[in-house]
Amino acid sequence: MVCLASTANAQTGEKEMNAFISQLMNRMTLEEKIGQLNLPGSGDITTGQAQSSNVAGNIKAGLVGGLFNIKGVEKIREVQRIAVEESRLKIPLLFGMDVIHGYETVFPIPLGLSCTWDMTAIEQSARIAAKEASADGICWTFSPMVDIARDPRWGRISEGSGEDPYLGGQIAKAMVRGYQGVGEKAFTSNEQIMACVKHYALYGAAEAGRDYNTVDMSRNRMFNEYLYPYQAAVEAGVGSVMASFNEVDGVPATANRWLLDDVLRKQWGFGGFVVTDYTGINEMVDHGIGDLQTVSARALKAGIDMDMVGEGFLSTLKKSLSEGHITEAVIDQACRRILEAKYKLGLFQDPYKYCSLERAKKEVYTAENRAIARKIASESFVLLKNDNRQLPLQRKGTIAVVGPLANTGTNMPGTWSVATDLERPQTLLAGLQTVAGKQTKILYAKGSNLTNDADLEKRATMFNRSLGRDNRTNEELLNEALQIARQADVIVAALGESSEFSGESSSRSEIGIPDVQQQLLQALMATGKPVVLVLFTGRPLTLTWENEHVPAILNVWFGGSEAALAIGDVLFGDVNPSGKLTTSFPRNVGQIPLYYNHKNTGRPLPEGQWFQKFRSNYLDVGNDPLYPFGYGLSYTTFAYSDIQISSNTLPENGTLTAAVTVSNTGKTAGAEVVQLYIRDKVGSITRPVKELKGFEKIFLKAGESKKVQFAITPETLKFYDYDLNYVCEPGEFELMIGGNSAQVKSVVFTLK
Ligand code: BGC
Repeated sequence: MVCLASTANAQTGEKEMNAFISQLMNRMTLEEKIGQLNLPGSGDITTGQAQSSNVAGNIKAGLVGGLFNIKGVEKIREVQRIAVEESRLKIPLLFGMDVIHGYETVFPIPLGLSCTWDMTAIEQSARIAAKEASADGICWTFSPMVDIARDPRWGRISEGSGEDPYLGGQIAKAMVRGYQGVGEKAFTSNEQIMACVKHYALYGAAEAGRDYNTVDMSRNRMFNEYLYPYQAAVEAGVGSVMASFNEVDGVPATANRWLLDDVLRKQWGFGGFVVTDYTGINEMVDHGIGDLQTVSARALKAGIDMDMVGEGFLSTLKKSLSEGHITEAVIDQACRRILEAKYKLGLFQDPYKYCSLERAKKEVYTAENRAIARKIASESFVLLKNDNRQLPLQRKGTIAVVGPLANTGTNMPGTWSVATDLERPQTLLAGLQTVAGKQTKILYAKGSNLTNDADLEKRATMFNRSLGRDNRTNEELLNEALQIARQADVIVAALGESSEFSGESSSRSEIGIPDVQQQLLQALMATGKPVVLVLFTGRPLTLTWENEHVPAILNVWFGGSEAALAIGDVLFGDVNPSGKLTTSFPRNVGQIPLYYNHKNTGRPLPEGQWFQKFRSNYLDVGNDPLYPFGYGLSYTTFAYSDIQISSNTLPENGTLTAAVTVSNTGKTAGAEVVQLYIRDKVGSITRPVKELKGFEKIFLKAGESKKVQFAITPETLKFYDYDLNYVCEPGEFELMIGGNSAQVKSVVFTLK
């Protein structure tokens, strides 16, 4: 028998696709259709024994649509073979994975990556991730994660692109382009994989920064401040969407028809499929909206097509159909969407499209990919402070490298790097020695554990990211470090968070550098030697003491598999740091949520003051962040000219240009992110004090100047009004340009 599947062609048009799928679905039983909606984990599949695994039986029975987080092309090929040779209709499986910031070659955690503000680099990182993953059997990634986050207590702030919807949207588009390819070219090669934008929606706004917690916000805020990055991914053609764990308006996103159908499909025109998050359907029982049968039916009717892990669909939909709670048409619709995804990926044409046994050997973790990862990592670091040009370091004398993060390789890639071999990344210590060369003597001491609390350290070093807890007393560790430090010309303190101190289910209520590390830092400062703080973190930390006392702070996030060398590149000045923050750094936890694009309120603080009675402020701390959105220093300095504006009025259908000349006034070449902000001074609803509307990253040699120009059209000024119409309103606008959100030049113009 010629299997239907083998006659399809990925390149044929939509009509052919529809006809092919209709024909296939005519032959499917109800069970097989429901089977396509089922996405189990990989179970107990091992190479050579996939046949006898617990999921193999279900695959043969046509009860599985895809699998996720199986690693290794041989294993995947074997499982795909079971599907296309041993199931009745021979429908290929989707193989998904959390390829979040790279595959085996790991790029910086997404929050770090966003600080590059470099869309070409971000797209390239996704392209390399797709290339490596696809070479190893994966055709679908659960990325990009685009949740706007304004609460650094939330551990998953590390997985997103920060607090700004415009920047987040640009990054979402770049990642989708990188994974899938663009337009007609998407999925034409076996190096392109399907992206899955997540977590739809508003997951980053969980109350109190506690993971999976309730979200409640006005529709106005959703549309103006949170939803754009998901929409941008849809505009870029993202093939799938993952529903979030949280509720929205009292209904979990997984059963929220308004979100999944009205907004995503009808308003934005999304044509792909929606998958739940891990057991997202089952969790609605705990949310309290019904038993498994009820919530499964609700999810399907709301617009969920695929059920990750929980098997709510598999175990209850047939019953719901027979009892009249759902129609076969909704099951058909979901099944069709899954089959369409497989068709678009080209799996009906060639189920082994992503299963070449040769590619994995040649295309994964290559020297070329790693060199790019090193470069991108060095672009993601943010120089927070550099008094008296403490940095860059010189390649001579003695450097004491101290701290619990100095001698760990497994923590370097950062959270959500499931595919990489954790034994490979170099430690900071080894990386610095390599980059420094033989003229520089490097000494090392651990100095302290991650925290004094051994249980907390255990929770923060899961998934084989142990720091090897040292059983010596705090005093012994400290004394050893001080003895080393005294022999050095400069101290590099490698402190902060471990990789699993952020990420999923890793919220913190205090977000400073932990106890014993603080004490270590204070003791190192007391030696009187110059100290450079190399800060590892997956979230903004409260660094008030550090900012006051430590002369140089380089925030390196978690830079990926090549982080150690990249940190060396920046510390020794081979690369001039150019990262700019994409989240505000608060002074203390009490300021949270803190974000640059806030509203003015009816009682704003007068400019230049930090407290006034009966104004919107605190008695004990100012309103402004320690480090603002868009901030980051360089080894050189940049000067901005005043803004030249083409006209003071913008006609209804016109364009206005605003330009500044940026000059490199220092002695080193460097890159600067020029940022455009706009304030709508009078609106029918209140508008933020400023909103990012454009940016350009430029490179300037020492002494060089460049004119940077932005075009502003009425489109740039649009927002969602009270009735959620997307409009721009005539009136006065303030246009600001600068090197960070707090330091800008400004002019005023009027929209006619
Ligand atoms: C996470 C998702 C992830 C999924 C599959 C969930 O716990 O929230 O981001 O894609 O697991 O691993």
